Amino acid sequence: MSIPDDNEKFLVRAIRAEEWPAMKALRLQSLRDPIAHLAFLDTYDAAVVRPDSFWVERAAGACVGATGTQQFIAEGPDGQWVGTVTVLVEEAGTTDWAGFPIERRQGHLVGVYVQPEQRGCGLTEVLFDEALRWAWEAEVERVRLLVHEDNGRAQRFYRRIGFLPSGVTVPMAGDPDARELEFVLERP
Ligand SMILES: CC(C)(COP(=O)(O)OP(=O)(O)OC[C@H]1O[C@@H](n2cnc3c(N)ncnc32)[C@H](O)[C@@H]1OP(=O)(O)O)[C@@H](O)C(=O)NCCC(=O)NCCS
Repeated sequence: MSIPDDNEKFLVRAIRAEEWPAMKALRLQSLRDPIAHLAFLDTYDAAVVRPDSFWVERAAGACVGATGTQQFIAEGPDGQWVGTVTVLVEEAGTTDWAGFPIERRQGHLVGVYVQPEQRGCGLTEVLFDEALRWAWEAEVERVRLLVHEDNGRAQRFYRRIGFLPSGVTVPMAGDPDARELEFVLERP
């Protein structure tokens, strides 16, 4: 999808399997963000030593044509990737990674990241438009995400595009005093 106005130079699209090196590079960059400890459960130190096979497999499972998972990126005119969001489809009757039951077929947005230079200009919204379009086409009943209670900027963005807190909170892995909040967008 092409982006109008000031963001015209960016293209938002799903990744291709062979693009795993770019996927890896953007992920490592995101894990060096000053608020990565709030935004991601993963760490740079853990990610940087993973073998290429990890990234090859991850890209294959989230590329154009994959079912159940789709990673979207915003690509600049020189081919550089500046932002990303991944949609996971969670099936009713299963449990999520933390062992909580999934009651409705839903999308789960993870790995949300936009480079600092491209924040606040509307690009994140276009990235989400594309991810949500894919989720609704996958016929999920709602889309959810988890956001750290102290990540004010992300929470404000999610509210602006229609997500609301569901009241569900999840303790942060490794930090039982901190919580992530579940935000939900119902199918329009
Ligand atoms: C989260 C993220 C994708 C949001 O994209 P963005 O382009 O920065 O979002 P926007 O600037 O359009 O919207 C953020 C809003 O928060 C406001 N804001 C900025 N800094 C803020 C802060 N420290 N606290 C609270 N609100 C803040 C902005 O003014 C804007 O307000 P508005 O809705 O009234 O315009 C991006 O900031 C990012 O990649 N952050 C680092 C990774 C991350 O936190 N990922 C989310 C994990 S759940």
